[in-house]
Amino acid sequence: MKWDHVILNGQIVTEDETYPGNIYIKDGKITAITNEQLEGEANETTDATGLYILPGLIDTHVHSRDGGATHKEDFRHSTQAAAAGGITTIFEMPNTYPPISNKENFERQSANFLSKAFVNFGIWGICLGDLNIDDLKDLDKLGVIGFKYFWGYAVNKENYQLVYNYEEGMENVIPPCDDGEVYRMFEEVAKTGKIIAIHAENSELINHLTKRVKAEGGNSYEDALRARPALAEELTIGTGIALAKETGAHLHILHVSSGGSLDQIALAQEEGYPITAETCPHYLFLTNEDFETKGSMMKVYPLVKYQDDQNRLWDAIEDGTISLVCSDHAPHTLAEKQMDIWNAPAGMCGVEALAPLMLNEVSEGRLGLQDIVSLLSTNPAKLYGIYPLKGSIMAGADADLTLVDMEKEHIIRMEELHSKSKVTAFDGTRVKGMPVRTIVNGVTVMANGKILSSEPTGQLVTPERKGDVNYNE
Ligand code: DOR
Repeated sequence: MKWDHVILNGQIVTEDETYPGNIYIKDGKITAITNEQLEGEANETTDATGLYILPGLIDTHVHSRDGGATHKEDFRHSTQAAAAGGITTIFEMPNTYPPISNKENFERQSANFLSKAFVNFGIWGICLGDLNIDDLKDLDKLGVIGFKYFWGYAVNKENYQLVYNYEEGMENVIPPCDDGEVYRMFEEVAKTGKIIAIHAENSELINHLTKRVKAEGGNSYEDALRARPALAEELTIGTGIALAKETGAHLHILHVSSGGSLDQIALAQEEGYPITAETCPHYLFLTNEDFETKGSMMKVYPLVKYQDDQNRLWDAIEDGTISLVCSDHAPHTLAEKQMDIWNAPAGMCGVEALAPLMLNEVSEGRLGLQDIVSLLSTNPAKLYGIYPLKGSIMAGADADLTLVDMEKEHIIRMEELHSKSKVTAFDGTRVKGMPVRTIVNGVTVMANGKILSSEPTGQLVTPERKGDVNYNE
């Protein structure tokens, strides 16, 4: 036998167990896991002595801005940043240019991404209300990973780009959908069996409060939080849960930031509804108090909230209310992120720091390595219908693996990020526990922080279809 890649002497970590073993890879698949040394030559041999081998980590929430804002990020940079951070699959958010709103755009963008991908990738489809309600079935057939609805955002009439700060009366803009339109969207997505994921913030409340706070001359982080409070998130989640209950849609709440939201989500879960949630490192490691040192670099939407919210997010990870942690990688330019709290755009780089920040919590004793596997690999793979090809280490699974050195210390440095525009509120953060090798489809893409492959080899990842719709194929 000629093996593509043999990984020897590692500690294999799954969500259930940790055990020593060798992994043999052929044609991009895990072929054998054994304590023996099997016969045959290997193209690549990795000695994993002292290292942990995790199923490839998945970042389900990435904005690579390709196209639309390629001066901030593009797919080549974001997927190299992913590989550098131990991520083997990203799910690309659909608010690109063109947006992933119909068959033609999906085909165009999947070819674009494929030509630049250093890791594997899934693609979200976008819900634009009546504008593309009839296109959702095509997107399902083509293999979007799920559907995203940016609740309360308006859409530019000409290019279907999201309008981030909508105000009534704006020209050339299609106003945000009303709840009837959202209801129809939920119905349509429910038929596909896929997830409808929402950016949950009530824009009407935010617009109203922002005007009031600005008129009072407020310009502190506290003022920003008054203008964009937890209530904005909680209101939309409440409506979303009610619509999901009625339509049978599987609702996923993106980037949860507030404790009150968790109460609503946990209740719906206890009642047995398919409602899931995620959060991100900025909500787990930052609070309002960090604004003094981080400034607008830590501005994200929804805003980072209070210590109590952070504590409750960690509790929700422990009790399973939150099933995955992802980055919401959303680069902007440095100049933009140096603006004041009102004018700076929301978002920062995240895909490269996600795994290091979470692994540090293993060193701190808050999480175990098996929890990392659950939160960053197995749970997302199961949720989005790509398990066990992804999210597992077993014979027949895809050979996507993340090798981790729990003794390795590292300082996250903004200027060392692999993204195009390098902006993060975690500049200077020390971590212990680092991904040291990223293996994608059996091939090492990153070793010790360096990108090894010169050519993009990432593949499009599509989920199993589970909907009950008959598209007359
Ligand atoms: O902070 C954010 N930035 N939150 C989002 O949901 C969108 C993102 C962006 O695209 O900039």
